[in-house]
Amino acid sequence: MKTPTITVIGSINTDMITATDILPNQGETVLGQSFQTKPGGKGANQAVAAARLGGNVQMIGRVGDDQNGADMLKRLEDENIDTSMVDRIPDQNTGIANILLSNNDNQIIIIPGANDEVTPDYVKQYQKNILASDFVLIQFEVPEETVLYCLDLCHAHNIPMIVNPAPAKELPVSSWSKATYITPNESEAAQLFNLNDMDKPMNQKLIITQGKNGVSYCQHEERLTVPSYTVTPVDTTGAGDTFNGALTVALSEQKELAKAIQFANAASALSVQKLGAQEGMPTRKEVETFLAH
Ligand code: RIB
Repeated sequence: MKTPTITVIGSINTDMITATDILPNQGETVLGQSFQTKPGGKGANQAVAAARLGGNVQMIGRVGDDQNGADMLKRLEDENIDTSMVDRIPDQNTGIANILLSNNDNQIIIIPGANDEVTPDYVKQYQKNILASDFVLIQFEVPEETVLYCLDLCHAHNIPMIVNPAPAKELPVSSWSKATYITPNESEAAQLFNLNDMDKPMNQKLIITQGKNGVSYCQHEERLTVPSYTVTPVDTTGAGDTFNGALTVALSEQKELAKAIQFANAASALSVQKLGAQEGMPTRKEVETFLAH
């Protein structure tokens, strides 16, 4: 089978992770447990997940000319991701995500920096590469106009595209309808879509991740659930990104939708067992072994 080419358009962040048992109230100071710096950004995370699972991945994004930018680029290159479409912007900062880890969950504050400059004009210069992809994957940590531009482009040229609407942002129905699949989590889905009253084509597109309650998708107008795997998480940051990267690989290999979701569920279950969004992302072999057992 030909290795699928996947283009990920999205954010590249440095994650500043603070683990704490107690979250401070407004105006309060507390003592935390640990602090670590790790590679992140929904775009970069999804690119790494797809590359580890066997995709031929090219990333379109931007970093600053700071040390974080150099480090994040190197991390992507080490994963065999084509970074020739990631540039370094002079006098700009690489995106930062301040992550508070507490009680097996996270709270994240993003400072976009260079990610805000992944504009339609920037992406347009790589139109040829996008159109040579088997699948395109995008999230909302780059400007909304860029998501709209990519939807128009891919739709006009029949290139399948997944929109992971994280963080949640509303788009007109005419734009959502250009996506092949939309992959919100439960709260993003509730915020963005009227789940009780959706037309058939839109319903078909929605793949909703629901944590331990599995993933809901639509088949023959019926909403079905692929169960998730039960694991004890160390850090759930990036679980959704692993799911999206894995789903894209599986779909570009023409796996049937329910099987592709099961593959992505396995990948994301494995990914939460280490600290950091990218650290625990599994290889193809690890997912296949997990599924075989
Ligand atoms: O989805 C997790 C990611 O969200 C983190 O890596 C952080 O960078 C934020 O973008």
